[in-house]
Amino acid sequence: MKFIDAHSHYNDEQFDDDLDEVIKRTKNEGITKIICAGYDIHSSKKSIEISSKYDFIYSTCGISPNDVPENLENIDELMKELETLAINKKIIAIGEIGLDYHWNTENKEIQKEFFIRQIELANKYDLPIQIHTREAVMDTIQILKEHPVKRKGMFHCCPLNRELVKEALKLGFYISFAGTVTFKNSKNAEEIVNMVPLNRIITETDSPYLAPEPKRGTRNECMNVKHIVQKIADFKNISIEEVAEQTYNNVLDLFGKISNK
Ligand code: NI
Repeated sequence: MKFIDAHSHYNDEQFDDDLDEVIKRTKNEGITKIICAGYDIHSSKKSIEISSKYDFIYSTCGISPNDVPENLENIDELMKELETLAINKKIIAIGEIGLDYHWNTENKEIQKEFFIRQIELANKYDLPIQIHTREAVMDTIQILKEHPVKRKGMFHCCPLNRELVKEALKLGFYISFAGTVTFKNSKNAEEIVNMVPLNRIITETDSPYLAPEPKRGTRNECMNVKHIVQKIADFKNISIEEVAEQTYNNVLDLFGKISNK
């Protein structure tokens, strides 16, 4: 079986001490491809470094809504720097980018401007995007309608929100599920997973955060994506093989630069 973790952070400092070991373990556990996601300039560079060392690891670069600066003064410089990263051959998407009104509602306009500028960057290089959205359903959808992404993208760790999932599917985006679908207190997880046809589902860990059941509370590693694939299979009443195969193909379809080997 082939497993893909479409969004993780082996660039997080929690892995600084034993990264090579963790990656070896991940590979031995049968994880076929990993996408390591950036969230600011530094983490994007680190992600490129890691993906340059390992064939089966790919990278995104972007500035997340929680990492935007306090004002728009340096936006042109930041975008220029990001563009120098975006052309790297291991960069397969722009992300994670989007809106987060859970942590900050004071800087909505700054978040929106960075989101839009990074959509334009994705379109310039014909790349898809990885979206981070939290408590910002309407604004996120509105921006995607007004600034269409040519190559589409995925909603990373998609909030289990009916309205968001409905609109995201209508816009042609993929829904990426993380450990939250395995949590016992995610009461509507089964309903949401069943709203999404298998050919639009992607799986991820968002490692080192959000470890799925039965690993909840530990440092999350990419091999735990198997628990998420299993949970989706349980909800849809199909085999884990079928979910693994289709979600693998979905990732290859969406991120055109990932090799099938
Ligand atoms: Ni993330």
